[in-house]
Amino acid sequence: MTTDSPRLRSTEWFDTPELYGWLRRAAFMSQGYGPEAYENRPIIGICNSWSELTHCNSHLRQLAEAVKRGVWQAGGFPMEFPVMSLGEYNMRPTTMLFRNLMSMEVEESLRANPLDGVVLLGGCDKTTPALLMGAASADIPAIIVTGGPQLKANWRGEELGSCTDCRRYEVELRAGNITGEDWAELQTCIVRSPGHCMVMGTASTMASMAEAMGIALPGNAAIPAVDSRRHRISELAGRQIINLVEQDLRPSKIMTQEAFENAIRTMHALGGSTNAVIHLTAIAGRLGIDLPGSLFDELSRTTPFILNLKPSGQYLMEDFFYAGGLAALLKEIAPLLHGDQMTVTGQTLAENIAPAINYNPDIIRSMDEPMDPEGGLAVLTGSLAPTGALIKPTAASESLMTHEGRAIVFEDHDDLFARIDDPDLDVTPDDVLVMRASGPIGAPGMPEWGFLPLPKKILASGARDMVRLSDARMSGTAFGTVVVHVTPESASGGPLAAVRNGDRISLNVPERRLDLLVDDREIKRRLHESPPEKPVHKRGYASMYSQHVLQADTGCDFDFLRA
Ligand code: FES
Repeated sequence: MTTDSPRLRSTEWFDTPELYGWLRRAAFMSQGYGPEAYENRPIIGICNSWSELTHCNSHLRQLAEAVKRGVWQAGGFPMEFPVMSLGEYNMRPTTMLFRNLMSMEVEESLRANPLDGVVLLGGCDKTTPALLMGAASADIPAIIVTGGPQLKANWRGEELGSCTDCRRYEVELRAGNITGEDWAELQTCIVRSPGHCMVMGTASTMASMAEAMGIALPGNAAIPAVDSRRHRISELAGRQIINLVEQDLRPSKIMTQEAFENAIRTMHALGGSTNAVIHLTAIAGRLGIDLPGSLFDELSRTTPFILNLKPSGQYLMEDFFYAGGLAALLKEIAPLLHGDQMTVTGQTLAENIAPAINYNPDIIRSMDEPMDPEGGLAVLTGSLAPTGALIKPTAASESLMTHEGRAIVFEDHDDLFARIDDPDLDVTPDDVLVMRASGPIGAPGMPEWGFLPLPKKILASGARDMVRLSDARMSGTAFGTVVVHVTPESASGGPLAAVRNGDRISLNVPERRLDLLVDDREIKRRLHESPPEKPVHKRGYASMYSQHVLQADTGCDFDFLRA
């Protein structure tokens, strides 16, 4: 630090007249650190969501060591600490139930401890947004380093991605086209390494959002988890956080309205996960920035979809890295971006992406030859979703973008699994599968149940897609004509609660409409006569969650956590 640098925040923990300043020094000594280690040096937290229960984040201890090297090199004092980790596969009922809890732990850990800056380590779907939400609220200088994508899977000569291809082959298993032995063999090779899912799922999308917003270093999004460059970018983050402390460059100065607009355009250009809409809205809400659904849709209409990656395209994150990574994609859409946005490099976004080269225009297309002239997500409204719903047209069937069909209603997730394969279920491929009680309050936690399985009898007929809709979310790795985030959710009295078997439903993606073709007075009458039941949680976190969680259009954050 230079002599005219601002007084370090951490100093206030040690220069105190009462006992605790003395005790804190004694505590550092107990770990072998004398005052020379930290006095007049920025203390940098390494906020680590490593956990053996989160396989995607299982290598973050090694990355933390690289960050520490960088902090020492630049004259800081690193202190690694754990926060809760949200493992997508292991946690029940859903990690989304705990995203806000993790964000609170991050925020309060940063606020309570003698830290001048922080390097955040995350990766699996919810860990990245939870870290960014907490850092936004605490607003001390921060850089996020995500764990990077897994290596590509390869099975019988075919390159596969988790878990787009897990879902695809599960459909074939249910259809009887592969055997149980095939399925077991696939399990042994689909997750080849540490790191997050290697398609453009939620984790890859949120890592890309962080880089597009400038809160992660250039290159962060696509370097594979086990590539040595992942260690080097971690070390660089350790060095660079010292500069951010010196310049007092906080998340609120980087994650601005314009930075979020850059992220939204990037999300559309890369065919990102529907979950990113919720997470970006929640992060922005911590900074007092509103991101209405209309903004997402407006930017979708004017941003071409240019990344050829699963689930909307052909390739995998490792290929994206070799093609030039996110910086090369950002350079392709540079005329649409706010290039003057400041980033954690201390340079603008335009300066960061200037050296990028697109090495494979089949993977990263140009704006002149896009995968699709419009962006990857569409925001729908209508009598069935008065405050919004989402669809990912790039991963859906073109033939179903305008569709009217008969509703086949499932009361909840249990009802769906009890009846979906019933041979007596009256269903045709033209029908619309509807599931309710799956939203933030109803499920609770808005699980990724939105990728409703097709009935076996439909699969047997050869069909592989139908219109499906719910108030749930959908994994970013999933695909199909799936409408999610129907808002307000059924448990809070949204019109979804009024749908009856046999009602007609109209989906019109070009016009951004989702309508229940039932008279408005009849919808109100049904909701009045049979109001939806809300699950009752009498104690603990679930009780707090159900009382304070907001709907999907406000990011499912807690009302008391927004700025
Ligand atoms: Fe962690 Fe997919 S399971 S990112």
